[in-house]
Amino acid sequence: MKVLILGSGGREHAMAWKLAQSSMLHELYVAPGNAGTASLGKNVALDPLDFDGIADFVKAQNINILVVGPEAPLVEGIQDYFTEREELSFCTVIGPNKKAAQLEGSKDFSKQFMQRHNIPTAKYGSFTKSSLSQGKTFLKNMKAPYVLKADGLAAGKGVLIIDNLAEAEKALEEMLVNSKFGDAGKKVVIEEFLKGIEVSMFVLTDGTSFKILPEAKDYKRIGEGDTGLNTGGMGAVSPVSFVNQEFMEKVKNQIIIPTVKGLKKDGIHYQGFIFFGLIKVGGDPYVIEYNCRMGDPETEVVLPRLKSDLLHYFEGIATGTLSECDLEIDPRTASTVIAASGGYPENYEKGKTIEGLNQPIKGSIVFHAGTALNEKGIVTNGGRVLAVTGLGADVESATNKSYGTLSEISFDGMYYRKDIGKDLLKEKVKS
Ligand code: AMP
Ligand code: GLY
Repeated sequence: MKVLILGSGGREHAMAWKLAQSSMLHELYVAPGNAGTASLGKNVALDPLDFDGIADFVKAQNINILVVGPEAPLVEGIQDYFTEREELSFCTVIGPNKKAAQLEGSKDFSKQFMQRHNIPTAKYGSFTKSSLSQGKTFLKNMKAPYVLKADGLAAGKGVLIIDNLAEAEKALEEMLVNSKFGDAGKKVVIEEFLKGIEVSMFVLTDGTSFKILPEAKDYKRIGEGDTGLNTGGMGAVSPVSFVNQEFMEKVKNQIIIPTVKGLKKDGIHYQGFIFFGLIKVGGDPYVIEYNCRMGDPETEVVLPRLKSDLLHYFEGIATGTLSECDLEIDPRTASTVIAASGGYPENYEKGKTIEGLNQPIKGSIVFHAGTALNEKGIVTNGGRVLAVTGLGADVESATNKSYGTLSEISFDGMYYRKDIGKDLLKEKVKS
């Protein structure tokens, strides 16, 4: 099969790495890719939002499978673009259509969906400029802290958690009246605050059957001990110690099955990954958010634990035979640690030469995120630069491998958190 992956991060490198192991793969392309994907397939200088350009490439190369890494092309309707054109029907898009991608693209849509299908989630109300005063009344009737979410995509920055009522009211006004988050904040969802521990679950579905992939915990803040600004994710671990069989059963029966069935019932065809951002409150799972794609850096721990052939799954989606595919998971623990550019998630410089990439220690994999190849060699080209994954018998041995390999790597301004997985070690001691 011929595959084109859209995207350029660690997630896309991990997907390329996994697909490159498949005996079913004939050719692999990544658009635009990074220095890591260039060693596994051919990078193509195409923007994932340039649907015409992608379609021309797909036709010219006879691409069978188009894997969409990031959410933006899905929310913009790349799946619909392909299914509406007869001449592209030979290519299966792995990723949902525009309507289904609203699960991520609109918080209001996803809350209504969950309410309609009795999927556990925080209580909420949603408001626009014309219902600002009702929004303020709603806030007054909630308890602190107050959770305010811009309805649309806001590059991971659209969620505010505020302790004080007056400040929450002010923030609501800024979003609705002063367009604090632009169009994304024209509608605001106000939610009940849920206190618990977060975990991410991933499912690959053809719209009817599904495979539950390994769960992961993401470390979102820039600083150690989960302090400082939010980032795209500074590390991840899989499996997650508090996800036991009883909890998994609840997730499957109360969340995953109702989601897949609910989509079908609503007449929304969904093919691709569903990312469930969950929170465990007193033993029960609640949905914090849906994403219509895989997570980054979660993919860098999920796929190394998947023993089954990912391309076989994609073929299963193309032919409606996903239910016949086996699911085999590596019982080992995977951890990934992000090496970021100094200054990230605020301003940072690019173009720093990366040294020491060639000697990963056994049991570790260096996934590239923001890297590029130029006359100086491999250089930094983004905020999150590398995701170094380790596999081991437990969290300690997996993270030791990530950190061992990272200790050989350097670039000007390189920063990484030294505490990825440490909270899970403490939990193991407690239990
Ligand atoms: P979201 O973009 O919806 O995933 O929200 C970003 C982050 O805000 C989540 O990962 C949580 O840490 C936090 N968060 C969102 N909604 C809630 C909620 N209802 N209660 C507590 N924390 C929340
Ligand atoms: N790491 C969180 C995300 O991919 O949304």
